[in-house]
Amino acid sequence: MAEKIETLLKASRVIEPTEKTKAQAYIKDYEKEYQRSIADPEKFWDEIARELEWFSPWTKVLEWNYPWAKWFLGATCNISYNCLDRHVKSWRKNKVAVIWVGEKGEERIFTYAELSRQVNRCANALKALGLEKGDRVTIYLPKIPEQIVAMLACARIGLIHSVVYSGFSAPALESRIKDAESRLMITADVGYDRGKSTNLKKVVDDAVANCPTIEKTIVVRREQPGVALSASKEIDWNEWLEGQSTTCEAVALDAETPLYFLYTSGTTGKPKGVVHVHGGYMVGTYITTKYVFDLKDEDVFFCVADPGWVTGHSYIVYGPLLNGATILTAEGKPDYPNPGRWWDLIARYGVSIFYTTPTAIRLLMKYGEDWPKKYDLSTLRILGSVGEPINPEAWEWFHRVTGGDKPIMDTWWQTETGMILVTPLPCVPLKPGSATRPFLGIEADVVDREGNSIEKGGGFAVIKKPWPSMMRTIYKDPDRYLSYWNNIPGCYTAGDVCHKDEDGYFWFMGRADDVLKVAGNRISTAEVESALVSHAAVVEAAAIGKPHKTAGEMIKAFVILAQGQQDSHELIKSLKDHVLKELGKIAVPREIEVVTSLPKTRSGKIMRRVLKAKELGQDPGDISTLEE
Ligand code: PRX
Repeated sequence: MAEKIETLLKASRVIEPTEKTKAQAYIKDYEKEYQRSIADPEKFWDEIARELEWFSPWTKVLEWNYPWAKWFLGATCNISYNCLDRHVKSWRKNKVAVIWVGEKGEERIFTYAELSRQVNRCANALKALGLEKGDRVTIYLPKIPEQIVAMLACARIGLIHSVVYSGFSAPALESRIKDAESRLMITADVGYDRGKSTNLKKVVDDAVANCPTIEKTIVVRREQPGVALSASKEIDWNEWLEGQSTTCEAVALDAETPLYFLYTSGTTGKPKGVVHVHGGYMVGTYITTKYVFDLKDEDVFFCVADPGWVTGHSYIVYGPLLNGATILTAEGKPDYPNPGRWWDLIARYGVSIFYTTPTAIRLLMKYGEDWPKKYDLSTLRILGSVGEPINPEAWEWFHRVTGGDKPIMDTWWQTETGMILVTPLPCVPLKPGSATRPFLGIEADVVDREGNSIEKGGGFAVIKKPWPSMMRTIYKDPDRYLSYWNNIPGCYTAGDVCHKDEDGYFWFMGRADDVLKVAGNRISTAEVESALVSHAAVVEAAAIGKPHKTAGEMIKAFVILAQGQQDSHELIKSLKDHVLKELGKIAVPREIEVVTSLPKTRSGKIMRRVLKAKELGQDPGDISTLEE
């Protein structure tokens, strides 16, 4: 790894911001602003928070009781009010908030006033079901506008949403509903993926059958004739909203009121419910969207994520709407119906800010530069990347095909952090492959195991001070929350390995733990392993990540078969199908190898590191703890 970093660093060139970029940017002098912000972070966050509307003010910016944080103490607010009412009261009332394009080419456009009416009707419908502040609602929807409407409606009346990515299978959905003890499910009949429809309703039926807390299921029916609904428990989305008033006052909530749970993978098989709250999350997503992307009223902001993941929560829904932006969101894959899909959307809607992922860029690279060349991309001015390290080759390609003069914001952050933490701002000189420097108000560092700062070299990425949009806990599992802060003394450990260069630039190298990043999706080896051993033919399993040209990483699993089982094509296929059924497509191992033993420590822990080294033909390092 060290060698790889050295070559990377040597190869890197520095790209200075253009005069034009600098002239229009909110932040023109990063060093000065950064020093000012960290000299007194509370003052910095206090000033930012004042750009938003609060129903009543705070008495204290931060209460820090290591590692528990409370921000904007005593203040009341509502994030949905700031996403909608704040704009509806202004000239932005009839500004376009959301442009949605479906996989089949359908288009739906919502102004701030229209989005607000839909959200209010949905909030009233939620109230009519008897849902009350603090109740949980699971949203399992494809990327359609109802997903955004439902999230904001929950927020408006103090319900906690738990959005589950619609690619997850029934058991994965079930465990997330159970953990959250949701009272309501909002879903759709189908989702579309490269022209094929997936039956989401069936997944929900299977999951909800084992979830007694769910009282009703709301179904958005996209197909004609509409799927049959059971009269007692299931309601059609349109019928549900029919007759509901288009006004619904946003509830004044204490700033620390939970806004959502979002389940993410850790090092165990059980996903963790990351908890975010109204006040601090609102401040963090608002200002990062504004400064990182230099977001202005004239912009069209296109973020390709799905609201099923944190990027969609923070940079499709909350961050852009808090800024009164116009968002473009599109269902479907970057290469369907052809590899010009996203370039075409950029040209058609005059997109000026385009936030995407390394995996998508690498996929588009495979189809060549002729595709982007076909379209007028001259409206673009700021680009973004998120979710995994971007290799310099992909960075350079993205930079070149979009005109060669638009800065790429390589944004590093996590579900837990809520907002972007390490990132360039448009005025910062760029190095392809580096997420550059910490965002304003953020004290990020690279340290050794003892927490000593590393001036130049590799170590662990940490954050040394609390920030407003940090997760407040892991739902029902405070110990798991504590473990982020107990790992390295005095700081939040992100779980990433990182290299800091002589200019203090951060180069994120991947995870330090057993979490994989497959096409930017976060999957734990333990989840894949527990899915595999739940198959009758498998007694033990170990999963590792292997480098993959497009997806960054791919999953390879090693399995020990039960007595009497034979390795065969059919068996491997059945194991893959089983993981698909248990977890979903994103977690299916690309390769499965049958073995007779696995490397273990004397205490019986599988040494995945050794498996990985062997697989990649590398030196396994210290194997003194290996049993055999
Ligand atoms: O390993 C880092 C990687 O994604 C992890 C967080 O994953 P998740 O919670 O799913 O959130 C993804 C979207 C924010 C991090 O621990 N990661 C995210 N962004 C980058 C990154 N690695 C390198 N460079 C990035 N820009």
